[in-house]
Amino acid sequence: MKQVVVELGDRSYPIYIGASLLQRAAELVRAELSEQTMVVSNTVVAPLYLETLLKGLPDIPAHTLLVEDGERQKTVETMNSIITRLLEQQFNRTCTLIALGGGVIGDVTGFAAACYQRGVRYIQVPTTLLAQVDSAVGGKTAVNHSLGKNMIGAFHQPAAVISDTDVLASLPAREFRAGVAEIIKYGLINDARFFSWLEDNMDGLLQRDAACLAHAIEVSCRNKAGIVARDERESGLRAILNLGHTFGHAIETALNYQTWLHGEAVAAGMSMAAHLSVKTTGFAQAEARRVDVLLEKAGLPVSLPDTIRREQLRELMTVDKKSRHGRLHLVLLEQIGKAVVTPEFEEADLEDTLARYAG
Ligand code: NAD
Ligand code: GLY
Repeated sequence: MKQVVVELGDRSYPIYIGASLLQRAAELVRAELSEQTMVVSNTVVAPLYLETLLKGLPDIPAHTLLVEDGERQKTVETMNSIITRLLEQQFNRTCTLIALGGGVIGDVTGFAAACYQRGVRYIQVPTTLLAQVDSAVGGKTAVNHSLGKNMIGAFHQPAAVISDTDVLASLPAREFRAGVAEIIKYGLINDARFFSWLEDNMDGLLQRDAACLAHAIEVSCRNKAGIVARDERESGLRAILNLGHTFGHAIETALNYQTWLHGEAVAAGMSMAAHLSVKTTGFAQAEARRVDVLLEKAGLPVSLPDTIRREQLRELMTVDKKSRHGRLHLVLLEQIGKAVVTPEFEEADLEDTLARYAG
């Protein structure tokens, strides 16, 4: 088993990564459990892994709450249904919530934990690759509003994260690749050596080789933990975690959040950010080519569907929440392994990038 610590003083917490960890849950997080423990999961993940997790918590009379599957459940209503159940069970401030699922379950359960009685403990047990390398780490919790994604939320760090790599065996291939996009992101923004490792080991990773997976998850978590420890509330540095996301969100919105997964849109967005970086920061053309080659090797898109128009993308980028004082800030690359957040780019260069990718 590997362990990464998110260093946040008295709110520091461990991330456990390895095989067969659900079975060892009580041993790993005993100090964080309570007589009042509730597991929140969904109707896809629970039939696969809830029983194994509960067996791993033998002395804990854990309650369970299942929500329907999908991003559409990431709402105030779902959060409220968790709160209602906690109140019905007369859970007090010493209770513990456990989120067993992907980013949707993790985000909504974390937000319920942030709000219930002004904040209670929760443990993340992420079951998608994206959640293991990204959403379960760092304490961003949120639900969606009809007018915007993740618009209601809080920073609330988990007490521990248990990433059991065995659960990834049942993840559909597209969902797996969407997680790989976020893994590639860490190499690009912060870790050139890891990027080279990914170039050499992408086949093993896609085959879900246990050693490759554990290494990729550990290094990703280490990179994210380091950034979160330095800028927990995104007053600066943490924004580099959004590489490709301003383009990506515009792509997702243009496609009505239907055709593409978030990770796929982020992959194309990272390709676009690399392209714009060549014009803006002096990022080498050959390095931008490496970005596309690796994304393509991972089976991720580096071009957009024909239906997307560049004017539409530009307009959608303007409403992105990373636009400050009317000036769009973008995460760009200076080198592989070094990102900057900057408003310093020429509008003509952005237009040129949009024109290269969209009709
Ligand atoms: P998800 O939670 O919807 O999971 C994707 C699909 O895989 C779902 O159908 C789910 O039921 C299924 N699934 C989960 N685990 C499985 C398994 N082991 N085997 C088979 N199927 C499984 O989506 P996601 O990609 O994990 O997360 C996306 C969400 O995460 C978005 O809401 C996004 O906003 C959020 N997010 C949050 C952060 C953060 O910092 N909090 C960061 C990135 C993304
Ligand atoms: N996923 C971006 C962040 O955690 O800051």
